[in-house]
Amino acid sequence: MKNPRSSQWFQSPGYPGFSHRAWLRSEGFPADIFEGKPVVGICNSWSELNNCNAHLREVAVAVKRGVLAAGGVPLEFPTISLGELFMQPTAMMFRNLMAMDVEESIRANPIDGVVLLCGCDKTTPAQLMGAASADIPAIVVPGGPMLAGRWREHRLGSGTDGRKLFDLYRTGRLTDEEWNEIEGCIARTSGHCTVMGTASTMTSLAEALGMSLPGCANIPAPDSRRLAIAELSGRAAVQLIENNLTPSRIMTRQAFENAITVLMALGGSTNAVIHLIAMAGRLGIRLTLDDFDCISRRTPYLANVRPSGEHLMEDFFYAGGLPVLMNRIGDLLHTNCITVSGQTIGENIAAARSSNDAVIRPREQPLSAEGGIAVLYGNLSPLGAVIKQIAASPELLKHRGRAYVFENHGQMAAQIDSDDLPVDRDSVLVLRNCGPKGAPGMPEWGHIPMPRKLLNQGVSDMVRLSDARMSGVSYGTVVLHVAPESAVGGPLAAVATGDEIILDVPARKLELAVPQEVINQRLSSFVPPPRHHDRGYRRLFLDHVTQAPSGCDFDFLTADYK
Ligand code: FES
Repeated sequence: MKNPRSSQWFQSPGYPGFSHRAWLRSEGFPADIFEGKPVVGICNSWSELNNCNAHLREVAVAVKRGVLAAGGVPLEFPTISLGELFMQPTAMMFRNLMAMDVEESIRANPIDGVVLLCGCDKTTPAQLMGAASADIPAIVVPGGPMLAGRWREHRLGSGTDGRKLFDLYRTGRLTDEEWNEIEGCIARTSGHCTVMGTASTMTSLAEALGMSLPGCANIPAPDSRRLAIAELSGRAAVQLIENNLTPSRIMTRQAFENAITVLMALGGSTNAVIHLIAMAGRLGIRLTLDDFDCISRRTPYLANVRPSGEHLMEDFFYAGGLPVLMNRIGDLLHTNCITVSGQTIGENIAAARSSNDAVIRPREQPLSAEGGIAVLYGNLSPLGAVIKQIAASPELLKHRGRAYVFENHGQMAAQIDSDDLPVDRDSVLVLRNCGPKGAPGMPEWGHIPMPRKLLNQGVSDMVRLSDARMSGVSYGTVVLHVAPESAVGGPLAAVATGDEIILDVPARKLELAVPQEVINQRLSSFVPPPRHHDRGYRRLFLDHVTQAPSGCDFDFLTADYK
């Protein structure tokens, strides 16, 4: 068995080898435990401050069984975890911190390979970024989605349905008593959000990249098959070490193109654009927004899952899950990419068969001929912006309207429910100072709530745009990630209330209908907003975070591009 890395600790001569063995034996290991056996780290993002990952210690027990059965030594270790709904100002601000924690925990310790236990939105990309930089054999085991929520006769998807129901509550169409009932049953089991939000998207993309066993991503958290595949993943980790199959050998440019194709067919989260660029950057692979748009144009949208479709992740799993979806777009994939199973993508998906074509649409009956996400350019977004076109109102995909500008999130929150907010259904809501440096951390504030006065008029969608991100569970005609962001003097900073904005998604255009010399003149008097933080990690973040089209990684963490 090849374990050259851990041997440097446990087989080293003299006092260092003695001390490494002796101190670890204090945990109760017998004398021969490290002789020639591969050491598998289990990188656990378990935390009670992250409900989506709170069951991962049970998953870790199953992984350990698999490692032991395959002749390895499992050693579990913690890292920080990122609870999407709890962290202020946003979990995104700490994705890079977790990636650094994962990378350095792997690099510093006597392990030959690592099993990555993740789930909630940012934990999957953070672990993959760290593992890519450390580049020892690694395999991803996500915790899986929750079961569907259930309120009276309604099946609820956490996140997506919560927002819809909140609009009913804030306009008086649900009582306090009903709202309290919903609170107790919308998220009723372990696991991450049960729609095609960022968590479901990123765990699916980990599998599409080849970093999880086939069929792993979508098994619901409470399903016994979740623990069974965790055990199989523990066995696979030992085999990965034997074969020295490292992340850089699996996550190639072709594998990332597969992941983008799957993202588009899933109708997955816009956040995946940022995360995939950052993950690829760790391996010296430059992904551009044009890569996403180009692949989107040729990829049909097939996964009929909320927020853009009807069903929930539980239904997607019962229909056959990701292997079926990938089988249906097999001709658009690089099927010869190698995966952690030791087989290729093509071999992994060859036998997959759908059990419900209403949930995973056949190729000839797509929900949309194009993929879920489009990239927009124009004088308002010279470096690009994104829109989840399948979650938008079709009649708003070509729209011209007058801007109403919110200077920041606080101003928006204070005004949005005002009865005299001067907007109508044709207005374009603009929110700025919400980008990577501006907010800071690029929170999921892009899904600007619909003004209450318009909801009361029966208007359920309007064009909204910002330099923020949007939760993967959200929906609407929402333009996101406008770059460069306003806080660094991007053209978004020049928009004034009353300006006309032109959105044309089929033509991939986002324009401010104001003469360029007026835009330039407005930007010439641009004053950056005050700096939010001047110490610690938050200072590091402000000094080094990149813009959305570069993945919002730190500039010093990316590899040299090949
Ligand atoms: Fe963790 Fe939704 S809050 S996935």
